[in-house]
Amino acid sequence: MSEITPTRRTVLLGLCGAVAAGLGSALLAEGAQAATGVAVNAAGQAVITVKKVPALAKVGGMVNVGTVKGVPTAVVRTGAATYAALDLRCTHQGVTVQPTGASWTCPAHGSTFAANGAVTGGPAGRSLAGVPSKFAKGVLTVG
Ligand code: FES
Repeated sequence: MSEITPTRRTVLLGLCGAVAAGLGSALLAEGAQAATGVAVNAAGQAVITVKKVPALAKVGGMVNVGTVKGVPTAVVRTGAATYAALDLRCTHQGVTVQPTGASWTCPAHGSTFAANGAVTGGPAGRSLAGVPSKFAKGVLTVG
């Protein structure tokens, strides 16, 4: 009997490890997918190859590009070849806003912002700040 218990335990540990490994792979795959088309250059700027980011294929599309120089940042397509980079820190008390469909909502107190960062509901009284960006030859550099 004592020989069976370690074997059974080993099998259970192996199953748990396999499940954990599978979960890790899934998380890694999601991260890799989110990072497609987005790189960071030596200056710490986000360098976005726009055609590789499906979320930016249409006007109004938006994508969270992660933290750029310490600022949670998103990019929104505002026109045929124009983009806006937004500082996702809520202008009320600085909590990072979250995407809700084609807009942004602050999870702290419910302020809402249009896709381009314009405030649409308080308590925030100001629109999301912009992050410097430059678009040239299909590449958007942010930060
Ligand atoms: S911090 Fe965003 S609404 Fe208060």
